[in-house]
Amino acid sequence: MKKILLIHGPNLNLLGVRDTKHYGDLTLEKLESLVKEKADEVGIEVICYQSNHEGSLVDFIQEKSLNVNGIIINPGALTHYSYSLYDCLVDTNLPCVEVHLSDVENREDFRKISVTAPACIAKISGKKEQGYLEALELLNADNIN
Ligand code: DQA
Repeated sequence: MKKILLIHGPNLNLLGVRDTKHYGDLTLEKLESLVKEKADEVGIEVICYQSNHEGSLVDFIQEKSLNVNGIIINPGALTHYSYSLYDCLVDTNLPCVEVHLSDVENREDFRKISVTAPACIAKISGKKEQGYLEALELLNADNIN
């Protein structure tokens, strides 16, 4: 069975409570269930992980990437400055898709910069939970083996 990682960075544990205008009203648990449900339909197993700590995210990706076929990641604010996460994603040699719930291009200037997106095959933003389902389709279409 194909497997992917679904990784969430800092503060995404508070989905449902955080500004719903930007991030929608799904809790992280509901968002993960939604992705898992869709993935199940196309025969993909999803391994989820959230951390507020950069190093924990790097540790988890390093360890788990050896046995998976792709990664969906919302790095939260780490998107805008984490070169260690960028390096980590590059080093996996896996197709990665970066997702943002909010429309990062049309918010504060610092959110327009993503240092992690160049390690990814695509960046999807502003589509709330729908963005994650598109990411899944992209990874599936990318014919991950
Ligand atoms: C976010 C956008 C980031 O700028 C922000 O720091 C987040 C969430 C999003 O999903 O829209 O925590 O990645």
